[in-house]
Amino acid sequence: PETGCLSIIVLGASGDLAKKKTFPALYNLYRRGFLQSNEVYIFGYARTKISDDDLRNRIRGDILAKMLQSTLKMYQQIKYVSGSYDTEDGFRLLDKEISEHEVSKNSAEGSSRRLFYLALPPSVYPPVCRMIRKCCMNRADLGGWTRIVIEKPFGKDLESAEKLSAQIGELFEEPQLYRIDHYLGKELVQNLLVLRFANRFFLPLWNRDNIQIVFREDFGTEGRGGYFDEYGIIRDIIQNHLLQLCLVAMEKPVSLKPEHIRDEKVKVLQSVLPIKDEEVVLGQYEGYRDDPTVPDHSNTPTFATVVLRIHNERWEGVPFILKAGKALNSRKAEIRVQFKDVPGDIFKCQKQGRNEFVIRLQPSEAMYMKLTVKQPGLEMSTVQSELDLSYKQRYQGVAIPEAYERLILDTIRGDQQHFVRRDELKAAWEIFTPLLHRIDDGEMKPLQYQPGSRGPVEADELLAKAGYVQTHGYIWIPPTL
Ligand code: BG6
Repeated sequence: PETGCLSIIVLGASGDLAKKKTFPALYNLYRRGFLQSNEVYIFGYARTKISDDDLRNRIRGDILAKMLQSTLKMYQQIKYVSGSYDTEDGFRLLDKEISEHEVSKNSAEGSSRRLFYLALPPSVYPPVCRMIRKCCMNRADLGGWTRIVIEKPFGKDLESAEKLSAQIGELFEEPQLYRIDHYLGKELVQNLLVLRFANRFFLPLWNRDNIQIVFREDFGTEGRGGYFDEYGIIRDIIQNHLLQLCLVAMEKPVSLKPEHIRDEKVKVLQSVLPIKDEEVVLGQYEGYRDDPTVPDHSNTPTFATVVLRIHNERWEGVPFILKAGKALNSRKAEIRVQFKDVPGDIFKCQKQGRNEFVIRLQPSEAMYMKLTVKQPGLEMSTVQSELDLSYKQRYQGVAIPEAYERLILDTIRGDQQHFVRRDELKAAWEIFTPLLHRIDDGEMKPLQYQPGSRGPVEADELLAKAGYVQTHGYIWIPPTL
């Protein structure tokens, strides 16, 4: 049933993720009317001993500025339970609280829908899942369901990820598990399927040239050095967020059913060939090791460019360049398809650059196509220009929802399309594990780069070798209103 009493239980409620992402997303869903006040109740669970009001104030501190009168009610519907993550007492108490609420609602549908959001470090996923399974499952007499939301890091390599999957898989069925990758909740990522398969334009073109998937941040690991150093940029960004953009590479799914879509993603991931050392450039920004939480001799990359090769009919010979870095010269995430030169080009001598199709995930969501046109005026010369679909301009007044909002709503609705399936996770780890082990063992070392730069020059050289032609002298500027 998708109606009736709904309990959202945030485990790790006093932590950072809950405060920054989970509660604000719930608040926004509430404000937009997606959580019915007569149906939903929110529970926070953590070890810290605080009161209901303490938790409400913590959450409120962040979103008070935006708070409207109507949402005050939401705060009254937040209950806090404190307990440990591996003993039954706390979870029994939590179950009692949820049950009381479910019974007092006594809703006509008699529903017991329980959504557990684990805003916790993965090391406690197995015990917490065990406790939920044992003490907090939805009430059979009222029907409903129990779903678990978890977030990366899902392990550190193939073996540890598989172990975690197996531990959780013993307790919950795959349809109950929602592995979040918040990139899948981004508007332009959600648009990829429509773009590719609802437009005739792209069908014959989507198979050659080169594709770059780029993530840049213009700040370092600020305050997260300890966490980051254990994982590095490949585990933090590339193996998950960027690889999810395999939506760009997959074949057309049989239908829009979530399993059909995820089947295609798995297939294309399984077609990726082993990564060659000479198609990898690693970097570490100067000053990274000054962070007191980072070891002095850390070998952890904060930048990586990796070329993937997909062994199938569509992508033979086409490089997929994944690039991510911290402390670079700009902040953006985009997918860039670059087309080869026009065969027999009669304008060759005066042209500035190649055709490109760019999907800009953030900031300033946009899709634009770089193309060559005649320079307006009396002269016959060419210039690079663009067809530009900038969202702010084209969809004025439309608020683009936060990734977490959308994904939480999907979990309530039971739609798993935008979540990572177990076999998909495995395929993603299979691609990167050999490389990661070589880095962990110190066999591959990152090159130093200046904070605020483009990263190591060797990365640009690798791109050129893979066939990417950088255009100089032209940049797309997001339109201002
Ligand atoms: C997180 C990474 O998953 O994604 C962070 O751990 C990174 O290192 C963040 O900063 C980027 O997310 P977004 O939505 O800001 O692009």
